[in-house]
Amino acid sequence: GTPESPSTETVTLTIDGQAVTVPAGTSIMRAAAETGIQIPRLCASDNLEAFGSCRLCLVEIEGRRGHPASCTTPVEDGMVVRTETGKLHALRRNVMELYISDHPLDCLTCPANGDCELQDMAGVVGLRNVRYGLEGANHLDDAIDASNPYFTYDPSKCIVCSRCVRACDDVQGTYALTVQARGFDSRIIAGQDDGFLASDCVSCGACVQTCPTSALIENTVIDQGQADHAVITTCAYCGVGCGFKAE
Ligand code: FES
Repeated sequence: GTPESPSTETVTLTIDGQAVTVPAGTSIMRAAAETGIQIPRLCASDNLEAFGSCRLCLVEIEGRRGHPASCTTPVEDGMVVRTETGKLHALRRNVMELYISDHPLDCLTCPANGDCELQDMAGVVGLRNVRYGLEGANHLDDAIDASNPYFTYDPSKCIVCSRCVRACDDVQGTYALTVQARGFDSRIIAGQDDGFLASDCVSCGACVQTCPTSALIENTVIDQGQADHAVITTCAYCGVGCGFKAE
């Protein structure tokens, strides 16, 4: 079909008392970022379509019931949005509590320590207490997929945000990954779970780059720790932009 021309219509709304004007169709999360307000998030990232699964980015909209996800809710003219209220803080802490309750508590020895969005968000929402002590038991015994020579998938560290699936599909166009099962049993699989190497994976690294935890992590980081700086390049053959990490 004929591509639609991009919307030139704009919408003005108020977020935490600040007026902001953005193109129609923009999400509340992106509009907030325009004013410098970073709404807590886990399943959203700047270069992926929003998915709305982690429920960390909830906001309040005046005159509306409930707490919609800001990453999937489009702006409307005259909307009055609040991103920081006592109720939202409590909801976000509860969401993080559930995530952490099903995550191994080995941050100090985890290769992603200091470079982990789950760890960051626990700090951002002020998590101090976890009432449900699963400690990642659901996937601790699952096999780690180390079939790919460049990176490793550890299901016990996975929060099933599906950023890797969307990066593989939407950014890379490879469609190698999918979410298997539901609820506590859910995890990411490549192909028919014969491992990454046997799947359609082309080792582009888009999934690793977007993973917010150490579920998908480069083998060099496991072996040598985090690089002290990274050089991001985009070569002529690929639109993804790989992160070459220098030691
Ligand atoms: Fe909006 Fe996850 S960032 S639901």
